[in-house]
Amino acid sequence: MDVKTAIRTRRSIRAYDPREVEEEKLVRILESGRLSPSASNRQERRFIVIKDASTRKALSEAAKNQKFLADAPVVIAACSVEKEYVMSCGQLAYPIDTAIAVDHMTLAAVEESLGTCWIGAFDEKKVKEILNIPDDIRVVTLLPLGYPSDTPRPTPRKGLDEIVMWEKWRI
Ligand SMILES: Cc1cc2nc3c(=O)[nH]c(=O)nc-3n(C[C@H](O)[C@H](O)[C@H](O)COP(=O)(O)O)c2cc1C
Repeated sequence: MDVKTAIRTRRSIRAYDPREVEEEKLVRILESGRLSPSASNRQERRFIVIKDASTRKALSEAAKNQKFLADAPVVIAACSVEKEYVMSCGQLAYPIDTAIAVDHMTLAAVEESLGTCWIGAFDEKKVKEILNIPDDIRVVTLLPLGYPSDTPRPTPRKGLDEIVMWEKWRI
């Protein structure tokens, strides 16, 4: 599958088939995250792969009871081991670096006929307790992964004319 097709066909999947994810597919998806760029190549992101059903259920409860997190056969918790690094542009690097890695994984999942959904609505403290994550680590997102059991329609996007300016900021 070419990148353009993966970008165009990716959807947030909120209904999963219980069918297991093949190990080789999972490894290819994680590899896509590993290969992603990071500021100064610091590679501060870490991924916890959760298959255990009771842990997934606890995570879904820590994520405002979003049940599909428990239904997906795999949940990946994307974390950062370093939370202080600020680039000279003034932006914190870790959420950006981790997001890039996760985005690579969401697109790689499409190529494997698998679905994902970014989860930002979760209680980080509870997630850390469930997964035994030390205090100084940040959890950036939870990513359910599995075979979709529905095919959501595309969600609307602003047109290029609404988000792109040429040469200078246009008021
Ligand atoms: C940073 C981030 C956090 C999100 N958090 C959630 C979430 O907690 N629960 C959820 O169902 N979807 C969540 N989403 C998915 C968005 O709602 C979804 O990407 C958006 O509506 C566009 O739909 P699409 O992904 O199908 O194109 C999140 C997406 C992003 C990028």
